[in-house]
Amino acid sequence: MKLPVEKNQTYTMSITDIGTNGEGIGRIDGYTVFVEGALPEEVIKVLIVKTKKHFGYGKLLEILEPSPHRVTPACPVAAKCGGCQLQHLSYEGQLAFKTKKVKDHLERIGGFSGISVGYAKGMEEPWRYRNKAQFPVGGKTGEPEIGFYAKRSHRIIDTPVCMLQNEVNDRIVKIIRAFLAEYEIPLYDETIHRGLVRHILTRMGRRTGEIMVCLVVNGRKLPHCDVLVERLREIEGMTSIVLNVNTDQTNVILGTEVHVLWGKETIRDYIGDVQFEISPLSFYQVNPLQTQVLYQTALDFAELEGNETVLDLYCGIGTISLFFAQKAKHVFGVEIVPEAIADAKRNAALNGMNNADFAVGAAEDVIPRLYEEKGITADVVVVDPPRKGCDSVLLDTIAAISPKKVVYVSCDSATLARDLAYLCPKGYTIEKVQVVDMFPHTVHVETVVLLSHNKTNN
Ligand SMILES: C[S@@+](CC[C@H](N)C(=O)[O-])C[C@H]1O[C@@H](n2cnc3c(N)ncnc32)[C@H](O)[C@@H]1O
Repeated sequence: MKLPVEKNQTYTMSITDIGTNGEGIGRIDGYTVFVEGALPEEVIKVLIVKTKKHFGYGKLLEILEPSPHRVTPACPVAAKCGGCQLQHLSYEGQLAFKTKKVKDHLERIGGFSGISVGYAKGMEEPWRYRNKAQFPVGGKTGEPEIGFYAKRSHRIIDTPVCMLQNEVNDRIVKIIRAFLAEYEIPLYDETIHRGLVRHILTRMGRRTGEIMVCLVVNGRKLPHCDVLVERLREIEGMTSIVLNVNTDQTNVILGTEVHVLWGKETIRDYIGDVQFEISPLSFYQVNPLQTQVLYQTALDFAELEGNETVLDLYCGIGTISLFFAQKAKHVFGVEIVPEAIADAKRNAALNGMNNADFAVGAAEDVIPRLYEEKGITADVVVVDPPRKGCDSVLLDTIAAISPKKVVYVSCDSATLARDLAYLCPKGYTIEKVQVVDMFPHTVHVETVVLLSHNKTNN
C-alpha cells in the first residue's frame, strides 16, 4: 500500500497534539507523523526520516507559524543536550502537558473515564532546582570536557553552566576543570576503558547548605588531590570531598568503594522537619522543594489521625516512611536494596523515631509472606514503585489485606494506569489524582493517587 508520505521528502504540516515524550504530533493526509521539537498549534516544514505502516517520524526543518506557548530555551545547549526535552515550551505549557499526559494514560491505558486530574503543582521558580549533579568527564588530557551526554548517546556536550543545577555547581566544575587541565590528569575514555577521572558528582543539602563533591575515578588515587581539596574548600558550605573508585568497564556511574579526601563522608538535609544523612551512594530525591510538595500531598490524601498502621512499599531510604511516621502510630517500610534499608534505619534513629521498622526484600515476596504467615494488617498502604510499576502479586495481596486507603505515588503514569486498572476491580475506587512537577523542563511527571476501599465508602 502506498503511504501518503515518502521518506526524505519535505512537507508542510500542522501540529495538533503533543505525545507523552513531548514530541509534536500531526497528520499529513491522515497519516500520523511525530516530530521532536514541534508544538501543538504550529505549522512547520518537516523532513520525513522514517516511515512505518501506520505512522512516521519527521525532522523539524522550519517553524512557519509558532505556537503561542513557544519560548526560547534559557540554556544555549538545550537542543543538543539529552537532559531537558521541554525547554522550548513555556512553563505553564509544560504543566498543562503533564496534566494531560496523566489524564490520557488513565483513559487510554487504564480505561477510566470522568476522572478529575488535579492540575500539575509546579514550582514558583522552575530553575536551578536540582540538589544532585552527575557530570561525565572526557576529552583530551589537558582539555577536559565536562557536561552532559547528548541525546541518545554517550558523546559529552561540554556544558559550563546547567540551568537546572544549583549555581554552586558552576563554580565547582570550573575549579575541577582548571585543576584537571593544569595538572594534566588523565581523563576517562569509555570506549577503551582508559584514563582516570570518569565523573563528577555533587550533592547539596538545600536547608543545611552542606555540599559534597565526589570524583569518580578509574583507579585508587588522584594525583595532586591536596591542591584540589585546598581550592574546593574555599567554597562556602563545603562539607565532604570524596573519591569513589569505579574500575569496572560499565555504564554504572558509581563504584562501591569511597575514600574521604577531606571532611565528612556524608552531608545532611531535611524534608519538612525530618533530617536525612546522605552518602554519595544513597538514593535521595533530586528536587527537595517539590519532594516536600509530593510527600505532603500523599500525607494529606492519607488523612492520618495518629492511630494508623502504614505500610510504605518500595520505601528507598525511608523518606516517605519517616514523613508519615510523624503522624501515624506505626510505619513498616519494605525496600529491595539492603544499603537503602541501612540508611532508613540510621535516619529513623537520627530523628529519634521509634515507630518505624524496615525490612529488606522484594515487596512482592515480603508482603505476601507476612500476610500468609502473620496475617499483617494495615490501615493505609503507600506504594512508590520504580517506573515498571507494582508486581501483580503485590497488588493481589494489598487487595487481600484490604486497607481503607491506598496512596499510589508514581513516576510513570503509564504503569500507574495499568496498576489502577488491575487493583480497582478488586474493591477500590479512585478518589483523587494529583500531578506534581518534580522535574521542570523534562517530560517526567509524578502523580499521587488516593484509592479508597469500596466497603469504607458504603
Ligand atoms: C521511586 S523509588 C522510591 C523511593 C522512596 N519512596 C523515595 O521517595 O525516595 C522506588 C524504590 O523501589 C525500590 N525497588 C525496586 N524494586 C523493588 C521491589 N520489587 N520491592 C521493593 N523495592 C523495590 C528501588 O530500589 C527504589 O528505592
